[in-house]
Amino acid sequence: SATVVRTDDGALGVGGCDVRALAAEYGTPVYVVDEADFRARAAGFRDHFAAAFGRHGAHCDVFYASKALLSSQIAGWVLDEGLGIDVASGGELELALRGGAPGARITLHGNNKSDAELIRALEVGVGRIVVDSMTEIGVLDALAAAAGVVAPVLIRVTTGVHAGGHEYIATSHEDQKFGLSLATGAALDALRAVHASPHLELLGIHTHIGSQILSIGAFKDSAERMLRLRADFAAETGFEMPEVDLGGGYAIAYTPESESMDVEKASLEIADVVAQGVDAAGGGWPHISIEPGRGIAGPAGMTLYTVGVTKNVSLEEGGQRQYVAVDGGMSDNMRTITYGAEYTAAIASRVSSAPPVLSRVVGKHCESGDILVRDVQLPSDIARGDLLAVPATGAYGRVMASNYNSVLRPAVVGVRDGKSRVLIRRDTLADLLDWDVL
Ligand code: LLP
Repeated sequence: SATVVRTDDGALGVGGCDVRALAAEYGTPVYVVDEADFRARAAGFRDHFAAAFGRHGAHCDVFYASKALLSSQIAGWVLDEGLGIDVASGGELELALRGGAPGARITLHGNNKSDAELIRALEVGVGRIVVDSMTEIGVLDALAAAAGVVAPVLIRVTTGVHAGGHEYIATSHEDQKFGLSLATGAALDALRAVHASPHLELLGIHTHIGSQILSIGAFKDSAERMLRLRADFAAETGFEMPEVDLGGGYAIAYTPESESMDVEKASLEIADVVAQGVDAAGGGWPHISIEPGRGIAGPAGMTLYTVGVTKNVSLEEGGQRQYVAVDGGMSDNMRTITYGAEYTAAIASRVSSAPPVLSRVVGKHCESGDILVRDVQLPSDIARGDLLAVPATGAYGRVMASNYNSVLRPAVVGVRDGKSRVLIRRDTLADLLDWDVL
């Protein structure tokens, strides 16, 4: 994870920067992203998957799922490392373009894209549009015809593989909103429709089974079904689709007790399954791609808070719990309340020799579910003014932040080699008043 060290006097240092200096300069809460760690993770996916598929003489591209964390500077890091960028809205598309991404290296996702988003994608020459429904095939066909272009298409397939860390982030079983079903034949129908259209170019198929996945088996099942679909379509039409995108979802560790996906092992096993599928079909290799988001951004980021109020409450089962309230909360990290996600926390500004006690880190919002870290051991002398760090918040933190209770969304600060710079600036009171119409 982010390269965190203890400085001589016990404070945390990240990317060569003392957290106390970062808090003083940027205020808290603040998301801190270790650029070197982010880049190393991006390069790790790139190199492991290139090597694993390279053993079979094949290729694998990596697209960063920018919904995890995006700014134009971050898009620049991703492009530098040789990855493409996956966007899921017109807003993400503009940020990727602003970061210097050529249209050809962008993939556009979304289960309900607007006409405006599709028109913009065609205008900037997005490399792949992942279509998610028959409705969208009709719409895109008409828009491409009107623009006098041929739209590059991947079909999003629901493979029936049920995987993911939480029901809300499992995306390939039947009863959810994404994709075209393999089981019902909807995927095949969509393939036929796209293949038949002169305004659409069928590049291949895409699937994303879910997020925070720890089972390599789920990825293998999904890859196997995708390769079979490609073979079936080739048998029917004689057309071997050139591309298969296997999505993201590689789990990270949020707490010291939890596991992360072994990316190297996963790459090898997935490449082997795809190779078997290619052999069985007796045709040529498709170009494979994957789309990790959390696995790149998550561990590279942490959130720094300032402790305000502490109090001890009695537990029904006996004993006590220390409540530590910080200057942020569910507005900067929706994941605990939304998915029951687990995090850990530590005092960042000093070392304490007080005994650790059962604690809960909460925010400043007006509801009791405003919990950041449900259960964690923190020193009994933690007090107002201490800095608290919550690690592994680089993904799905700032991008899901809200202004609940009219709080100001925190800045995202990049650190590297002892230097820091703002990637996304903090909201200001002036912003807040500006959004209000008198
Ligand atoms: N590709 C597609 C098409 C996706 O929908 C997603 C995530 C990814 C790739 C990247 O998945 P990752 O590698 O980051 O797991 N807000 C939730 C996560 C929702 C993910 C949605 N799609 C969370 O905080 O856990």
